[in-house]
Amino acid sequence: MALLPILNYPDPRLRIIAKPIKIVDQTIQTLIADMIETMYDAKGIGLAATQVDQHIQLIVMDLSENGDNPRVFINPKVTPLVDDIKPYEEGCLSVPEVYASVDRPTKVKIEALDKDGKPFEEIAEGLLAVCIQHEMDHLKGIVFVDYLSKLKQTRALDKVRKVVKLREKQSDPVKA
Ligand code: NI
Repeated sequence: MALLPILNYPDPRLRIIAKPIKIVDQTIQTLIADMIETMYDAKGIGLAATQVDQHIQLIVMDLSENGDNPRVFINPKVTPLVDDIKPYEEGCLSVPEVYASVDRPTKVKIEALDKDGKPFEEIAEGLLAVCIQHEMDHLKGIVFVDYLSKLKQTRALDKVRKVVKLREKQSDPVKA
């Protein structure tokens, strides 16, 4: 397994629209394992393939308390089931240390393939509904800050630049 570099906002590659996966083969299995490892390492609860510069319809997620129940969504389709929308404080591994409230439908239907390529359907509410819609956005080239005011977007951009600079300083490459 390997840790994958995560693209940071406003990297233009975060805007690429993901293509459906045709066959769930060994290459996909390796990517799934790497994405799950990358998500845990970055202390995230969800990661879309777009964020690791793989432009295919694949999402990994773990909403469990102990971080021991990774879930996989391949070629997901998400349909809102209610008009009711609610704000939820969101963050994103591609927008480090920025948190902001986003309004989304509170109940959705998820149709996807699991890690073995088997189709399943699920009704999602609460955190799962928020998270799957956030990750679906990534596959469509949307980042959650797109929903914010111009002022908040500028602030987010400044914050990410600062955090990225700091992280680069902290992880001095081995000079060899
Ligand atoms: Ni995100």
